[in-house]
Amino acid sequence: MGNIMSKLEESAIKSGLSTDIDIIVLDKTESTNDYFIDIGSSAAPSICLAEQQLKGKGRSGRSWYSPYGSNIYLSLFYKFSNTPYKISSLSLVIGLAVREAISRICGNDDDLCVKWPNDIFYKDKKLAGILVESKTLGDEVYVTAGIGINVNLDEDTNQIDNAWTSIKKMTGHEHDRNILVIEVVNNILSYYKEFEVKGFGAFMSKWLEKDLLQGKEIILSQVSKEIEGKCEGVDDIGNLLIRMKDGSLQKFNYGDTTILGFKT
Ligand code: BTN
Repeated sequence: MGNIMSKLEESAIKSGLSTDIDIIVLDKTESTNDYFIDIGSSAAPSICLAEQQLKGKGRSGRSWYSPYGSNIYLSLFYKFSNTPYKISSLSLVIGLAVREAISRICGNDDDLCVKWPNDIFYKDKKLAGILVESKTLGDEVYVTAGIGINVNLDEDTNQIDNAWTSIKKMTGHEHDRNILVIEVVNNILSYYKEFEVKGFGAFMSKWLEKDLLQGKEIILSQVSKEIEGKCEGVDDIGNLLIRMKDGSLQKFNYGDTTILGFKT
């Protein structure tokens, strides 16, 4: 498979995947998620990877730092037909699949967590982020799962405005991105199959085992308000549960979370 610093290799990735799925590896592109905007829906399922993104997108209109050759910028385009389950909870399922894939290849399972809705943290620093975009056509939902993983990033950069880490920093050495991509894609596709049959309920206990926020005082930022309270995990459709100051337990289905006192 080449040395660790090798480039992303379409054929190596294709041969490691458990499903026959189209792959495109680009050298530079604006955003791997945007690659699927103009492509017809018949392209699903397929994946797009890039060595560099020129306009990498993060959640809530932020940008995603995407320097050349060191990290994973991956988008998986997939069609869900007639799913009775809420696609919003799928984003948590993708986070769980990515977390597990990283821990299988790179260890550190105990300290790899998910942070609602779909960030991956190593200890108290962000290691990977996920941006899910979807489009509904009749009974079909086309989902682009955009995954950014800091793999061999170790430069001092002021381009990331939150506490971040990388797999190299976590393990002390560099990793072959091709191997990680294979594990991540295989695991997401296998989680998708289970989600299609059972919904988020089947993943709830996995989530609660690795939930960074549970039991902590947090702030949930929504478009025009901030909600503060103690996180009590998630419910069986992936809503965030917050114990409010007045003692009531409330459910939320979107927003960004921060642990009180941390810039995450
Ligand atoms: C976040 O945590 O804010 C989400 C980051 C998502 C980044 C990935 S990299 C691949 C895909 N293409 C993008 O432009 N964004 C996602």
